[in-house]
Amino acid sequence: MEDSSQNPARREGRPLPPIDRGMKPVRRVPLFGRPGAPTVNPPGFGPNVPAGPKPAIAAAPPGSVARPAGPHPVARPPRPAAAPKAVRPITGIVYARRYKLEEAIGHGGRGTVYKAWDTVLGVHVALKFLPPGAALKSEAVDEIRREAVVTMRLSHANIVRLHNIEMMGNQFFLVMEYVDGENLRQIIDRLGSLAPSTVSEIARSCASALAYAHSVGVIHRDIKPENLMIDKDSVLKIVDFGTSVMAHSPGLDEYLEGTPGYMSPEQIRGGGSVDARTDIYAFGAVMAELLTGKAALVYDGDVNHLLEVRPQGLESLPPAVVAALVKAMEPDRDARWASAVEFCRALTRALEGDRAGV
Ligand SMILES: Nc1ncnc2c1ncn2[C@@H]1O[C@H](COP(=O)(O)OP(=O)(O)OP(=O)(O)O)[C@@H](O)[C@H]1O
Ligand SMILES: [Mg+2]
Repeated sequence: MEDSSQNPARREGRPLPPIDRGMKPVRRVPLFGRPGAPTVNPPGFGPNVPAGPKPAIAAAPPGSVARPAGPHPVARPPRPAAAPKAVRPITGIVYARRYKLEEAIGHGGRGTVYKAWDTVLGVHVALKFLPPGAALKSEAVDEIRREAVVTMRLSHANIVRLHNIEMMGNQFFLVMEYVDGENLRQIIDRLGSLAPSTVSEIARSCASALAYAHSVGVIHRDIKPENLMIDKDSVLKIVDFGTSVMAHSPGLDEYLEGTPGYMSPEQIRGGGSVDARTDIYAFGAVMAELLTGKAALVYDGDVNHLLEVRPQGLESLPPAVVAALVKAMEPDRDARWASAVEFCRALTRALEGDRAGV
């Protein structure tokens, strides 16, 4: 029993303040919390709040413990057992008795990619590890597992091949085909804009991979220069299916995932299933950026603005090229190209004239 003499509110006969038993609704925004990613108010937060469905997921602040139900807690809740955390991988070490880690080759919000030597097959592979400190029972694990499950279904020359997923001690990693090359962000940073003929070739490979993924029901949802690699034989490879979903599956739509400047308005709004046209929007934004050397969909920190944003900086391009790009980046998906191949045909024809062919 509570000793009411110890409680000033009780002693003075004032009512106790109501106990907030519900936790604050929170929408998880993995992208915006990632290192190096721009900060933004996601839908439902801050002054730039778009009207939309209210988030339904409740989450406790990190490290907090849910308060026991009832007005008079009888005991302090027990300290939760420390969840195992991913530790930083060490180069030179052999992982899973097979993969000798050589060097880090890429960083993203969901992990770090290392080049490693597969001592069994005698080939290089790429290992994608969880970020150090990520709990080994968390959404980070769910995401990397989702990436594995989706990528495993895909077999296409322009999509990175996934070999396996491994768990070893406090490590959890994907084993992938090693792409010996650069991503398109690195290429744009080095070269600025690309020649129309090069962009045509990239568009054909990208369209072929996307058309294939879409045909088996997979929507990538994070097509951007960082996730398109060109290997040393000039073959394009799409990487990073960690954000992908199956088309028409609204289940994963409660989280805002993607990259501002490439993310379609319907992806930002959420509340409905995405389809192939979401990737076509981002595909258009990437092609425009390759041709001009500048981001076409300028992100000013306001996601509301991204719902209606129109491509910029296309003035130097021929009108037919602009028309193909603008149609890919229509805010209303019904006004966009219906398929990646349709967009690619229009773009390559406009870039190459009569020489085009898809
Ligand atoms: N199989 C691979 N071979 C070589 N390099 C790779 C491979 N996969 C990814 N990379 C490089 O590592 C970078 C980060 O990888 P990835 O995009 O998978 O990580 P992420 O954490 O999911 O990124 P994001 O922040 O986009 O979600 C890529 O931009 C690319 O440059
Ligand atoms: Mg990535």
